[in-house]
Amino acid sequence: MAFPTETVYGLGADATNSRAVEKIFLAKGRPPTNPLIVHIAGVAQARRYAKAWPTTAQRLADAFWPGPLTLVVPRAPSICPEVSAGLDTVGLRCPRHPLALELLTRFDGAVAAPSANRSNRISPTTAQHVADDLGDRVDLILDGGPCDVGIESTVITLCQAVPTILRPGGVDAEAIRKIIGSVQVKEQTLGIQTASVSPGQHLRHYSPQAPCYRFEADQAELRDRYIASLGERSVILLAIGNEVARPSVQTIQMPDDPEAYARHLYAALHSADANSPAAILLEMPPDLPRWMAIRDRMRRAARPLEY
Ligand code: TXA
Ligand code: MG
Repeated sequence: MAFPTETVYGLGADATNSRAVEKIFLAKGRPPTNPLIVHIAGVAQARRYAKAWPTTAQRLADAFWPGPLTLVVPRAPSICPEVSAGLDTVGLRCPRHPLALELLTRFDGAVAAPSANRSNRISPTTAQHVADDLGDRVDLILDGGPCDVGIESTVITLCQAVPTILRPGGVDAEAIRKIIGSVQVKEQTLGIQTASVSPGQHLRHYSPQAPCYRFEADQAELRDRYIASLGERSVILLAIGNEVARPSVQTIQMPDDPEAYARHLYAALHSADANSPAAILLEMPPDLPRWMAIRDRMRRAARPLEY
């Protein structure tokens, strides 16, 4: 079943039932090495499914739940190993969308739910996106309207010496530091690619079908050269302020504040892709901490334009 959360729509199944969980991997075409997030109605349920509940987890849950933060803690045996791809940890999140909360409260269990899209496609922020991408692979879609946050939750592991952000998202690193002090951000999420990344940890692409390229705001010349090289072929540009006056280019104006940008990013990519342009171009927002999660998703969606 697909259901709304404040971040993106999720494809849910009972996290204590291996056969149900297996169906999620099948529907998404997701490799079994990529663990799923488990959704619960609150701290009481979280503690049931965590083998240990560090004070840092309690403090973060007090500060940010219900909300877009996933806490990776030791996994209780009742969560089936497939959920965690065999790891001895589990990612737990209490979402704040009222429909999700009601579902979880009534179920009073653990719901494993990745984003409700096929593997490597753009995450869904409306029920229609889910229907378009998963179609008859899903038996039921709960429609809770467009997602309020629009990008996935922040994932932080509390199973390392220093709490480490594995995926930037709806709650930013600075807000987390204010609650628990020292926090690391995994290098990869800062855009630094090292040669030594382990298998399964490579930058994955959440990509549109159309070729998708990104450029920094000061690379307008490169952008124009690329557009010129396509001649009359159509281009869709997601811009923050800087339009391109050319008949072949359709500009989607994106908001210049990170919260609003996040809310619209996936919908803009879905709608750009639906037009099957020759290319989608993304103007990157500034390389500042408050844009970190958005830049992360954009790097995954698009390759850099090169000279
Ligand atoms: O906002 C969200 O988090 C959405 C909604 C539906 O809650 N869910 C979501 O799930 O984005 P998914 O499966 O697309 O992404 C799960 C992320 C992956 O990057 C995965 O590696 C990480 O969470 N993750 C899950 N469990 C983990 C664990 N035990 N250890 C490390 N990373 C984990
Ligand atoms: Mg996903």
